[in-house]
Amino acid sequence: MDFLLCKPDHYGINYSINLWMDISNSADVIKAKQQWDCLDKKIKELGANVVYVDPVKDLPDMVFTSNAALLLTNKDVYISKFKHSERSHEEKYFRSWFENNGYNILDTNEYFEGAGDALYFGPNLVGGHGFRSEKSFYKHITQTTVRLTNPHFYHLDTCFCPLKKMDYMIFPGAFDEESLNTIRSFGGNEISVPESEAKLFACNAVRIENNVILPAGCSQTEKMLNENGYITHALEMSEFIKSGGACKCLTLVLND
Ligand code: ARG
Repeated sequence: MDFLLCKPDHYGINYSINLWMDISNSADVIKAKQQWDCLDKKIKELGANVVYVDPVKDLPDMVFTSNAALLLTNKDVYISKFKHSERSHEEKYFRSWFENNGYNILDTNEYFEGAGDALYFGPNLVGGHGFRSEKSFYKHITQTTVRLTNPHFYHLDTCFCPLKKMDYMIFPGAFDEESLNTIRSFGGNEISVPESEAKLFACNAVRIENNVILPAGCSQTEKMLNENGYITHALEMSEFIKSGGACKCLTLVLND
């Protein structure tokens, strides 16, 4: 399993494009670096491989590589088109990385924020819209779309996390009813995360085999994961939560 990460050398809260971000609540850059290093180390400890895209000055959110792109089969990759101009300058750097690494580049005219909004769930691909990606984008890749309705959970990976087989974590309060029904119609095993832990980004977790790396403070979620056979690894993510992201946002799975 290969992950793409971006070192937090230029990370910070330089602007506000979601309701977590407050420029007066700046990130402690030393702490952020330590937290990111622990994530990087943990992913490798659990047997996965990590590759890196170079961070770029003045692009603080480039650390959130989940939003770089969406990988399809055969090395086809959709490069994201960010809704906010603050992040749109990241596109060319992510594009170069994929070009230089032998991928076939696909482009979109609609807003689309990559694997932050589109998640594989067993054989299905679920596309989230409502805040960032446009619903109309998904006609290119899937018929399964869900609407996000709660601004705390503006990317699909902040409130939905497919796990092994058809297990999944979800914060139901982030979706409209029809969308919840869509997710539930696949008949998977639901692990429903309480709001207090959803707001600590419990669903923003990285799975490697039976292991789940999630933010610290989510004891009820950890208990449910353990009961379902997962080994949990809790990491401090406070400095990235200030930007509206955590473990999963900081990674992009390149292959399983
Ligand atoms: N500050 C970033 C933004 O608003 C956080 C991105 C989090 N990424 C994610 N995949 N949920 O775009």
